[in-house]
This record gives sequence, structure tokens and C-alpha cells, in this order.
Amino acid sequence: MLGDFIFCNPTRIYFGKNSLSGLDKELPLYGKTVMLIYGKGSVKKSGLYDKVTALLKAHGKTVVEDGGVMPNPTLDKLCEGMRIAREAKADLILAVGGGSVCDYAKAVSVSAYCDEDPWEKYYIRSEPVDNKIIPVGCVLTMVGTGSEMNGGSVITNTRTKLKIGRVFGDDVFPKFSLLNPELTFSLPKYQMVAGFYDIMSHILEQYFSGEDDNTSDYIMEGLMKSLIKSSLAAVQNPLDYEARSNIMWTATLALNTLVAQGKSTDWEVHMLGQAVGAHTDATHGMTLAAVSMAYYKHILEYGLNKFRRFATEVWGVDPDGKTDRQIALEGLSAMEKWMKNIGLVMNLKNLGVTQDMIPGIVSSTLIMEGGYKILSADDVKKILLESM
Ligand code: NZQ
Ligand code: ZN
Repeated sequence: MLGDFIFCNPTRIYFGKNSLSGLDKELPLYGKTVMLIYGKGSVKKSGLYDKVTALLKAHGKTVVEDGGVMPNPTLDKLCEGMRIAREAKADLILAVGGGSVCDYAKAVSVSAYCDEDPWEKYYIRSEPVDNKIIPVGCVLTMVGTGSEMNGGSVITNTRTKLKIGRVFGDDVFPKFSLLNPELTFSLPKYQMVAGFYDIMSHILEQYFSGEDDNTSDYIMEGLMKSLIKSSLAAVQNPLDYEARSNIMWTATLALNTLVAQGKSTDWEVHMLGQAVGAHTDATHGMTLAAVSMAYYKHILEYGLNKFRRFATEVWGVDPDGKTDRQIALEGLSAMEKWMKNIGLVMNLKNLGVTQDMIPGIVSSTLIMEGGYKILSADDVKKILLESM
């Protein structure tokens, strides 16, 4: 480990089957008006909406609702939410849903009192937040993004076709998050496995960077092994509490900033995936799955030592009598087999990408500098074409 850091994660986690009772501890800490944010309807179907609103009522809260948050929340929706929050003078924003709902809640929390255009200020220019921030709490129903314990907030501008993830500081992290693995049981398989790959990708983005001997890499190898084992069990039996709870906590640990401390990180797969998402509105985890193999094969020779280590430590590849390149490629093959096994979308065609969309996706792809190779526009094009 070579980098210095200051680490603080201010989110209080209530984990387990009774985690909703955490609201009894948290709600009294905030004022009377709660803005309740949720998605397109899964929380009403599951009965969670009724449970949460009953608790809010029991605590004497005035509830202002903002439902209908879409997967990959848009700037237009954010403009609606920031108006509602400001007019209601919300004291607390309670997000009940997946990463999209949590991300959107954070965007509303920093934008409600922003006097400028928050898209320009916070997402394009990435300026620090210098206005009032409304505190956010989350009840998580979908596992993958880590949004429940980080400052990430991804918003899509449908006009400019840019999907940008802003990572806010710890004053924007949720103040508390309630994590009940049972609330994820109702997820359709497609969303469930997309979330599994989102977790894997978050770990890989932080693992495939740097050459230093770093404690975080050892932690990440453990997280990946746990994810691989539990994901296979959860696909067999989605009601396997042990597997689903392990995955839920792995997702949080993968992106609550812990494993990024003191090391460099990449995030290019996310830049490719987000560009695809901006042009297709496809499910986040699937966009990452579709481009990953082509990307990793493209950069393999530049980070061969780490890809070799990934193969032997995570996938148990036997190195005997093989070249480093062969070992590294076997590791990627093992990952590809696992991806197919759990049912991920492995190419861009199946996400609605057509050849004529490629130049637009190339220009929407932001280039990161922490990976083993800084991509050129031509590299991006090649990777996208290989992912078709
Ligand atoms: O809208 P509803 O009806 O709630 O349905 C959702 C949605 O259709 C459904 N769902 C969620 N929980 C459910 C459920 N259906 C049945 N039962 C449940 N328990 O699942 C669908 C997808 O939900 P969504 O919140 O969009 O998924 P996810 O959690 O993957 O969030 C994706 C968003 O997070 C961003 C992505 O870019 C994308 O916009 N990310 C946020 C990050 C962060 N904050 O750090 C990092 C990630 O890399 C990611 O970029
Ligand atoms: Zn992600």
C-alpha cells in the first residue's frame, strides 16, 4: 500500500431480518417532514410501502411522496424531485428501493437548495457541495450498487446522452441504511444477477489497478470468492438466506470506499457501461457484463502480473507448466464460464446496441487513467465492436 488516506464512513447500517425496526431509532433524530422516494411500484407490490408508511405515521411524520423513480434516473426526474423537496421543506429523504432510488435521493438532497443548474455544477463541473444538504436514509431492496453506504449518485441526461456518476463526499452518504436480505427475494432473476455482476465489477475496477502489495487486494480476493460461491447458490435457490445475506454485505463492502483506500483504481468498465446505458437505458449490471471480457482481454498484457494473480487466487487456476499469459487467460475463461452460468447478458447486441450506435457510444465514453492501459478512442471502438 503506497497511498495516504483519511477514512471515515458515516453511514449507520442496520442489517438483518428485523432491520426495518432501525427506523424507530432513526426517525426521532430528524424533523417532521419526510420525503418518501420510491421506484416504479415494486415496493407497493411487496407490501414494504405499507410497512414504511405505517412506521412514519406512528412517528408522527408528515409524508411527502415522490414515486416513479425509474431505473437509471434522469435529469428531468431530478428537476421534479428537487422542486418537491424544496417546497415541502423536507427534513429527511427516505429512499425505499434499489440503487436508482438511493442515487436519486442523494441527487435531490444536494440539488434542492442549489441556486445553479445542479447538472452543470455537480455532474459536469464536479464542484464541491456548498449549499444545504437534506439528510438521506435508505431502505434497500436491490443489491449491487453499494449506494446504501457511499456518496455515489448516477444521473442520466437523456438530451446530451451522458450518464454521469458523481461521487459526493461523506456529508452526502446516507445517514443510515436498512439492509434486510429478505427484501431482495422478490427481485426478478434478471435484476438479481445483474446486481451480482455489478458487485463483481466494482471489485474488479479497484483490483485491476496498481502494482503495489496492498491489503485491499487481499480483502477483494476474499470478497470475490464469497460472491462467486454465494451467487451460484442464490441462482439455484433465490430464497437461500445465507447466500443472499452474504451477497448483500459483499455488495456494500465492495463499494463503501473501504477497499479503495490507499490504492489506485480503474473504473473504465463502468465508463463503457455507462455510455452504453446512456444510449440504450439497459440494466446497469448487464452493460458491464457485456463489455468486460473484451475490455479485460484488451488490457491483459499491460497488467499481466495482476491477471495471473486473479487467476490463481480467485479462480484456483493451477499455474504448473504454463506461461503467465496462459494462466491469466485461464482465469478470464473461468470468470466467463461463471458469468454464463449465472445468466448474464454477454454481448451488446442483446442489450439493443446496433452497429450505427457505436460512434455515439464511443464519444459518450469517458476515459479513466488508473487502469493498466489508458484507452484511445480507437481502443474503445475496438472493445465495443468485440463486445457485439
Ligand atoms: O422501480 P421498481 O418498481 O422498484 O423496480 C426496480 C427496477 O425495475 C426493481 N426492483 C428493485 N428492488 C426490487 C425490485 N423488483 C422486485 N423486488 C425488489 N425487491 O429492480 C429494477 C432495477 O432497480 P435499480 O434500482 O435501477 O437497480 P440498481 O440497484 O442496479 O441501480 C442501478 C443504478 O445505480 C447506478 C447505476 O448506474 C444505475 O443508474 N449505480 C450507482 C452506483 C453508486 N451509487 O455508487 C454505482 C454503480 O456502479 C451504478 O453505476
Ligand atoms: Zn456499478
